[in-house]
Amino acid sequence: MAVVIDGKQVAASYRETLKERVTALRARNIVPKLKVVLIGDDPASHSYVRGKERAAQEIGIDSQVLRFDETISEKELLDLIDLMNEDEEVHGILVQLPLPKHIDESRVIMRISPEKDVDGFHPENVGKMMLGLDTLLPCTPHGILHLAKTQTEIAGKHVVVVGRSQIVGKPVGMLFLNESATVTYCHSKTKDLGEMTRQADILIVAVGRAGLVTADMVKPGALVIDVGVNRVEGRLVGDVDYEAVKEKASAITPVPGGVGPMTITMLMHNTVEVASRG
Ligand code: GUN
Repeated sequence: MAVVIDGKQVAASYRETLKERVTALRARNIVPKLKVVLIGDDPASHSYVRGKERAAQEIGIDSQVLRFDETISEKELLDLIDLMNEDEEVHGILVQLPLPKHIDESRVIMRISPEKDVDGFHPENVGKMMLGLDTLLPCTPHGILHLAKTQTEIAGKHVVVVGRSQIVGKPVGMLFLNESATVTYCHSKTKDLGEMTRQADILIVAVGRAGLVTADMVKPGALVIDVGVNRVEGRLVGDVDYEAVKEKASAITPVPGGVGPMTITMLMHNTVEVASRG
């Protein structure tokens, strides 16, 4: 029986240290400020953004959500980003993805000042991460690394990442590589997924398909991190067959309550980092 990794609890304890940092900043008249841009009415995006607002409030970060109809033009959005880039009181800028089809996502990401890019999506920050330099790290990968470190040493472990998204799969492999893990990437063109995943000491699954990873695909004693968020018959489930894999792994993250709370916490971490740079 695996240890169930309580992401909510790990996140809450991390947020306590952030709270103390914010108190110290406020004593110096620095109020960490986060601006979140939310476009359209995607229910998942609205739910994520509510979570971000709640966490910010709990920690003492001043957060403001700017909501727009999906008819907003790309130019209007880019102009808004320019204003926030120039506003010295704003530490963090986050544009919730996905964006409406008429807006070029990468143009928007690249417009955000790398110094305020609390998502860690700007190519300059991605490049610095790849070089192992100190920078704003993408939130979900950073949260996954933090959770994994509560369970095990990373150096020398074989980490198998399933999924190669820009937001999670690709960068999380890079973060673990920077920690001296041996990293294998798997994706939709991988020939025998089970043969690969069975080699993992640490298995990270970030695809978005319920039931993708079954118990026969997991090495006994592995640490399994499930990043999937899928709605099945009104219930949230991950990409891993949780009940069966729990019997085989040494530790596993549940969905919900595993990686999700860490993502938001690392967003708060990045906002506090920017505010601390002064
Ligand atoms: N949409 C889903 N996940 C994320 C995220 O981490 N950041 C942003 N900006 N949008 C998202």
